[in-house]
Amino acid sequence: MTAISLKQIRKSYGSLQVIHDVDIDIASGEFLVLVGPSGCGKSTLLRMIAGLEDISGGTLDIGGRVMNDLPPAERDIAMVFQDYALYPHMSVHENMAFGLKMRGADTAAIEKRVSHAADVLKIEPFLDRRPAQLSGGQRQRVAMGRAIVREPAAFLFDEPLSNLDAALRVEMRLEIAKLHKRMKATTVYVTHDQVEAMTLADRIVVMNGGVVEQIGPPLDLYHRPASLFVARFIGSPTMNTFPAEVLSPSGAIAVLGKTIALNRSGHAALPEGEIALGIRPEDFTRCTAEEAWFSGELVVAERLGSQTYGYVEVGHSRMLSVEFPRDTNIAVGETIHVKGHMARVHLFSRGTGRRLD
Ligand SMILES: Nc1ncnc2c1ncn2[C@@H]1O[C@H](COP(=O)(O)OP(=O)(O)OP(=O)(O)O)[C@@H](O)[C@H]1O
Ligand SMILES: [Mg+2]
Repeated sequence: MTAISLKQIRKSYGSLQVIHDVDIDIASGEFLVLVGPSGCGKSTLLRMIAGLEDISGGTLDIGGRVMNDLPPAERDIAMVFQDYALYPHMSVHENMAFGLKMRGADTAAIEKRVSHAADVLKIEPFLDRRPAQLSGGQRQRVAMGRAIVREPAAFLFDEPLSNLDAALRVEMRLEIAKLHKRMKATTVYVTHDQVEAMTLADRIVVMNGGVVEQIGPPLDLYHRPASLFVARFIGSPTMNTFPAEVLSPSGAIAVLGKTIALNRSGHAALPEGEIALGIRPEDFTRCTAEEAWFSGELVVAERLGSQTYGYVEVGHSRMLSVEFPRDTNIAVGETIHVKGHMARVHLFSRGTGRRLD
């Protein structure tokens, strides 16, 4: 079992700094998921842990040893990439055995590990095929098999499922969850997929421009995002956010020309001036025109079967996304009145973007 600790990790390409003083402590056996917009530094961070990229500053500690200057082969870490990177001229079996052979493992040991991995990943029927004779999902499993046979101290995954179709992604997501439950290996996993992040992670790290915005269990990030950035990044459809003005520190705020009295008992007084109000689509309920925080015309209704998302034009060129029950009776063109769930509103400083309260 292996803990990984990143202390004040930095990365620069020439004068361009892309990772800024990142501190993350990954517990032994933890499944940590890195998310963030394209270009925020997820792959760079992963590659620095793997040893494929030099570390410009800070300390990388794996299993109690400083690894900054050790080559990848000495870090006992396996990395699985989005594009699989299998050897095209080798069979599935040879692909999985190759790394062990190179390390001088004996044939019996190699056979044992390959057949165990093939069993775990259900790829025994394909052991003699070449990668070109496999589907995307099967190739991805081989890439994982190649990592598993090494029995590494930790696994790194860089968007391993993004080349697969939706159904296969769900299947492989479950496989990865089961695999982790069984092997309990320390794992760092990069993804763009909200559901993968929410379902696989013990903790999620949200990155923004090379900086860690927030680290925490998935539902903590969902229910108590530390910043407007995290609030908008976690959750789909995105949290609705509005500029608002504090009228009284005890909770009266003005939003889109309406005054809303928030229940702030038990919370700190609100700062004077401009803030941002956030409400998730599922935290609205329909109400009368008099009670409404927001009213407007329903312009699009997305019926997904299990629920319905409505998009309501609330003026000031703002569109509200609202989740309705699956059997809701709404029609495009009708006027919708909604109010927010008082205990689930999110308030942020408009200056710093940090959560208030
Ligand atoms: N070799 C390089 N030279 C200069 N800049 C680089 C190099 N590699 C990456 N970068 C820059 O570093 C930043 C982080 O890149 P990185 O690949 O880590 O992003 P990412 O979060 O993985 O993005 P994506 O989600 O698109 O994969 C980007 O701005 C990228 O342009
Ligand atoms: Mg990347």
